[in-house]
Amino acid sequence: MYMMEISVTFLLTGCLIQGVFCDLINLPKRVEALEGSCVIIPCTFNIDQQYEQYLTDSAKRIWSKDLWSKNIVFDSSSPNTGPLRGEIFGTPTEKNCTTRFDNVEQKDNGSYYFRIESNDKLKYNYPKSVEIVIIGSGGGEGGDGGDGGKLCESALLD
Ligand SMILES: *[C@@H]1O[C@H](CO)[C@@H](O)[C@H](O)[C@H]1NC(C)=O
Ligand SMILES: *[C@@H]1O[C@H](CO)[C@@H](O)[C@H](O)[C@H]1NC(C)=O
Repeated sequence: MYMMEISVTFLLTGCLIQGVFCDLINLPKRVEALEGSCVIIPCTFNIDQQYEQYLTDSAKRIWSKDLWSKNIVFDSSSPNTGPLRGEIFGTPTEKNCTTRFDNVEQKDNGSYYFRIESNDKLKYNYPKSVEIVIIGSGGGEGGDGGDGGKLCESALLD
């Protein structure tokens, strides 16, 4: 039996491992997604204290692929214009960058970098990336295709 399932490898990195110098972003190293399904990236970020005052809810939350900051694939301020569709949950000031990308394809396999852009004073590219690994839907078994979004939402509640 082939079960449609979202497999999320959640390797927590960050303060616990890194010791004194806490990373400003918490991302899994790697998440896996079935081709045609969706993927959830658990993510929280922080802002250097001296710039925190510039973080507002109108900040843009941006994902770039492969090339650090150069290849924008998703921008929360215009979520329907980039090559990837989906949603970043919550608001910027919650510092939660948990993201769902819908209907990922083989070409979306790669490393993703988060960027926050609030105004001239606060633009920050986080240097750590998450690798999204797309798993083929397996030798023409058909795959259910349809309801990735719902599956993803229920995965979040678990
Ligand atoms: C971030 O947001 C997601 C989606 O709303 C939620 O499931 C998660 O618990 C939040 N994480 C933190 C640390 O608040
Ligand atoms: C896709 O993911 C696999 C598994 O990690 C990796 O070996 C491969 O290099 C990736 N392909 C691209 C184009 O990034």
